[in-house]
Amino acid sequence: MLCIGIETSCDETGLALVRDGRLVHAVMSSQADIHALFGGVVPEIASREHYRLIGPLYDLLLREAGVGPTELDAVAVARGPGLLGSLLVGMAFAKGLALGFDIPLVGVNHLHAHLLAAGLERELVFPALGLLVSGGHTHIYRIESPVSFRLLGRTLDDAAGEAYDKVAKMLRLPYPGGRILDQQGRRGIADPRLFPRPYTDNDNLDFSFSGLKTAVQTHLSRHPELVPSPDDAQAVAGGHDAPEGLRNMCASFNEAVAETLCIKLGRALDGDDGVGVRALIVAGGVAANSYVRDHTARLAVSRGLELIVPSPPLCTDNGSMIAYAGGLLRQGGLSHSLDLEAVPRGRAIPDDYRQGPAGCS
Ligand code: KG4
Ligand code: ZN
Repeated sequence: MLCIGIETSCDETGLALVRDGRLVHAVMSSQADIHALFGGVVPEIASREHYRLIGPLYDLLLREAGVGPTELDAVAVARGPGLLGSLLVGMAFAKGLALGFDIPLVGVNHLHAHLLAAGLERELVFPALGLLVSGGHTHIYRIESPVSFRLLGRTLDDAAGEAYDKVAKMLRLPYPGGRILDQQGRRGIADPRLFPRPYTDNDNLDFSFSGLKTAVQTHLSRHPELVPSPDDAQAVAGGHDAPEGLRNMCASFNEAVAETLCIKLGRALDGDDGVGVRALIVAGGVAANSYVRDHTARLAVSRGLELIVPSPPLCTDNGSMIAYAGGLLRQGGLSHSLDLEAVPRGRAIPDDYRQGPAGCS
């Protein structure tokens, strides 16, 4: 079964072809440079860019893959959560393909797709505990199978990636700044007492990263010399070493985020929801973070779990994960009708699949 996947939930336009669980080809265009000028994603610009790019990217995908449009067996599209205007561009395009080529349409939960993405690279193991850490979300799930997710914990305010991006902004670093803070932190030494492990002094699985952001802000107001000049910030963004004090602060911040995530994951594994769990799946843009990867790897080893993390290019938004997740849903006979709705961030994604015969059409 050949499934095309379409991802337009934020600022990446990604399209990909997956055949029977294997990636055939993927194309993608990131708008990060445009939004960097504004210090964050501007929704109106994002949807216009998706609209401008999606047609040419579709042509490019099929041409480079040597696939004709009539060979498509299903079309999968990220239906949310995301920016509504951006989602609608991908959804309208996907519905056009479904209608035009008379193939099933599958609306994919973008967050579930992130957590399944590693299945393109290795076998997934269930039940699994899933940590989704991205620019918009910090969610813990118990995952029973590729089509059965139960949300156990979520962020009450800033997502982990958002905390990275906001701290990067305080340091005059370009958006999205997570990767730069990671890189600089690796070259520094963490002080474990500098920043709190926020919202861990409780017995739940939710997160709150706004306190950590405020702690960094307070630290910077006491040490304004840590904030680089615009020229120095540009050099740091380009990969040059930041001064030692800033590198150490980055290391401390990375440690605080990674440890906080692992405290909650450990708690989930200790509770009823951890019973029988065989694997820890970590996904989303922040799963590319080296501290998060190291800390979760250590947690997995200590609990005898398999750690499943997609390779860094599959961690950020992409069409491959949508095509892959859509293919799995299709294999289970699931699809949607043409009245499929986009779901903006903050609203739960309904379980509104149509059940039909498994496989094509
Ligand atoms: O999953 P993603 O591509 O988009 C969303 O759906 O949000 O995640 C983007 C987020 C951004 O906040 C970015 O700063 C963060 O992932 N990110 C990182 C790293 N690479 C990307 N954060 C920390 N360390 C990294 N290496
Ligand atoms: Zn994402």
